[in-house]
Amino acid sequence: MSELITQRIREYTDKEIILLDEVDSTNNYLKKNAHRLEANTCVIAKKQTAGRGRRGKSFLSNNENGLYLSVLLKLKSFDAGEITAAAAVAVARAIKRFSYKQPKIKWVNDVYIGTKKACGILCEALFDNGKPQYIIVGIGVNLIKPQNDFDEEIRDIATAVFENNDVDFDLFSATVINEFFSLIDKKGFLSEYKELSMLVGKKVIFSDFSSEKEGIVQEITDDFGILINVEGSSKIFKSGEITFANF
Ligand code: BTN
Repeated sequence: MSELITQRIREYTDKEIILLDEVDSTNNYLKKNAHRLEANTCVIAKKQTAGRGRRGKSFLSNNENGLYLSVLLKLKSFDAGEITAAAAVAVARAIKRFSYKQPKIKWVNDVYIGTKKACGILCEALFDNGKPQYIIVGIGVNLIKPQNDFDEEIRDIATAVFENNDVDFDLFSATVINEFFSLIDKKGFLSEYKELSMLVGKKVIFSDFSSEKEGIVQEITDDFGILINVEGSSKIFKSGEITFANF
């Protein structure tokens, strides 16, 4: 199979791009090398042997069918919710531009197509003396379906953006990168994030990992939280995991 993402990506973005054939995790790569790399460096791997997802889960990426990208930010102050939301909106914009599909964002930062996940985002911060020093934004997009379908454990919940290889994956990937930087520079994408949200009005189960609550999502709040009506009273959550009560 030909490579999805090639050196040609550099023609489409002014950001420093490191392309790796294989790595444990592009987020790990940046963690190890952040001190010697320029701010805004992007690392893309053809495959990851130990791709990581949120909450200590693994992210299956030991195939060459996806965009496995991490971006190194060196910012003095930051809002992790806003940065991950910017990454989700950047991916949604690229999906809209290069496919006929209508992506949606499942709070906080999974990008869905229909009822299945096409992209996950893992934002991590490295601290020095209690101060955030580096932020690593990891983005994993299923670009095409693996030849023998997704692994059984994720087959029912995962989808890919494209049906075939007839796409300029370099341009798609550079678009994700360029849109992400333009969003974090300009801000002001809250209304787009809200419009892309697939949860408002839905019955969901919210988990903060110590307990689970069932409720109806009322809105995405202005600081990228979620307002859920649980047993008659409304509560705002800033982090946690949502599953659908009935999809
Ligand atoms: C999730 O769905 O829980 C988040 C998945 C994030 C996956 C990306 S792929 C590139 C980067 N490297 C990793 O190990 N994880 C992120």
